Amino acid sequence: MTTVWNWYVIALILFNLLGITWLLWWTAKRRPGDPKPEDTSHYWDGDITEFNKPMPRWWINGFYIAIVFAFAYLFWFGGWGTYDGFGKWSSKAEHDKEAALATQQLEKTFAPYKGQAIDVLAGNAKAVALGKSIFANNCATCHGSSAKGAVGYPNLTDTIWHWGSSPEQILHTVKDGREGVMPPWGTVLEGMGGPDAVDYVIAYVHQLGEKDGANRTDFAAAQGKKLYEGVCVACHGKEGKGDPKVGAPDLTDSYWLYGDSREALHETIAKGRHGVMPAWGTVLGDTRSRLVAAYVWSLSHSTKSGNLNAQ
Ligand code: HEC
Ligand code: HEC
Repeated sequence: MTTVWNWYVIALILFNLLGITWLLWWTAKRRPGDPKPEDTSHYWDGDITEFNKPMPRWWINGFYIAIVFAFAYLFWFGGWGTYDGFGKWSSKAEHDKEAALATQQLEKTFAPYKGQAIDVLAGNAKAVALGKSIFANNCATCHGSSAKGAVGYPNLTDTIWHWGSSPEQILHTVKDGREGVMPPWGTVLEGMGGPDAVDYVIAYVHQLGEKDGANRTDFAAAQGKKLYEGVCVACHGKEGKGDPKVGAPDLTDSYWLYGDSREALHETIAKGRHGVMPAWGTVLGDTRSRLVAAYVWSLSHSTKSGNLNAQ
């Protein structure tokens, strides 16, 4: 607040409070020459008289007390412009105090799970329930409330993993995030194999998923195989099984993060893809990251207490 507004606010408050005080004093006052309360000379129906009695003293004093209270209140809580008040109360301090209390309570809730292994937590129904609610609050926006994902957002309930499904790998994914970089290969492939090169590679990718596909020889797939072995093997491997170290998917399974129609594959291969899983370590802290990782892990791994996802 600038100085001008500061004084403007103070002046408004003072004007109001002093105005009320004056009004109270002025209207309650009896002046010399005022008729007695009984002498208003107003009569109705012959004998009904109107008096003009002052307000009772206790009533007037009640008003004065309220005015004094208002002054004290504004001084205590800092109601005068930018003045902080005797009590040094502020909504921010009150919020901080409540937030600290809430954090303390949260910490108490999460304390029993501190530093525990993901697979151990996944066997604890209470831990998994906590993980599930952390998931609903932070992860469901992208992965869906049932964790089944969508195009570009992986299904976390199946057995197919781009970054690995061991407890450590999942915890790493959650805490540090992952970035899947599939570079655009359109120009490179066309330079190597002509205008249909991308389609040749698609034919080969389709064939990879079939039994003994890598060794079959129809024309397009055979062209594609050469291109694949020149470019794609580096990340997806000779057999197309992928590489969890760089998040390169297995191209022989039936799961497609970005779809397996010719158009989707063409887009993926020619233009590339760049899926980003944000890092949650600093947002959630270690224990909550563990709990949510345990929930995710439990979706595809049965634990001693059964598959908790079935609840
Ligand atoms: C530098 C490593 C690298 C190379 C080389 C590479 N890819 Fe990829 N590829 C990836 C990564 C990483 C992803 C996952 C992208 C993501 O998660 O957003 C991917 C994704 C894909 C997908 C999508 C799979 C799905 O589930 O939707 C296809 C198809 C694919 N690559 C095919 C190819 C083909 C064909 C080539 C060769 C022309 C190739 N890739 C070369 C790293 C690579
Ligand atoms: C902003 C969207 C977004 C949010 C929010 C998000 N994720 Fe992800 N997540 C992704 C994307 C995109 C990928 C795929 C990255 C790639 O292309 O490889 C992914 C990948 C993953 C994977 C790896 C899957 C695999 O196949 O290896 C796991 C596990 C995962 N997320 C768990 C979580 C958890 C747990 C949370 C909440 C704490 C979360 N995600 C929140 C977008 C998100």
